[in-house]
Amino acid sequence: MTTSPLHEGDLTEDGEPTRRDFIHIFGIATAAAGAGAVLWPLVHQMNPDASVLALSTKEVDLSAVPVGQAIKVMWQGKPVFIRHRTTEEIREAEGTPLSALKDSVARNDNVSGQAEATDAARVTAADGVARPEWLILVGVCTHLGCIPLGTTAGENRGEYNGWFCPCHGSHYDLAGRIRKGPAPDNLQIPPYEFVTDTVVKIG
Ligand code: FES
Repeated sequence: MTTSPLHEGDLTEDGEPTRRDFIHIFGIATAAAGAGAVLWPLVHQMNPDASVLALSTKEVDLSAVPVGQAIKVMWQGKPVFIRHRTTEEIREAEGTPLSALKDSVARNDNVSGQAEATDAARVTAADGVARPEWLILVGVCTHLGCIPLGTTAGENRGEYNGWFCPCHGSHYDLAGRIRKGPAPDNLQIPPYEFVTDTVVKIG
């Protein structure tokens, strides 16, 4: 839209805009307000609303998961394994030297991408605190995407007492790190934070 400038001849004797100019200026202001009214719903639509955010995160109450057991939950269409590790399991995972690992990268969305795959780095939440009793993994084999066994009681946990992917024989340890088989990477750790001592929010 083009606007014509206000000329000296358009002013009344006391220097005020004429009625014609007043109508013109009022029209411009009304058009601008109208454009803003159209724009606001468009901008507002681009903000994720609460229902979208709720789908992208998942809160899980861990109070019913006994020590030594694990559960599987779905998050963003993917299985997530949550294991309540025993003291012995934590000790074994912590005692594994990095030299024994196939993949030395932590692959934890809550820590630096350069962090090494120590047990502590594998159980660190978004607040930077390591909670060794809780191991939280995306349950998708890093070879070709099968879902490894080992979460449900009685399933084959593989040679390292973690998870076993029967598709092509990948063995993951008690920190979800790949130890044997064709899978190249450790199981991914999703972003998560503890909302309370026993409620974790994934995503
Ligand atoms: S998909 Fe898991 S070993 Fe091939």
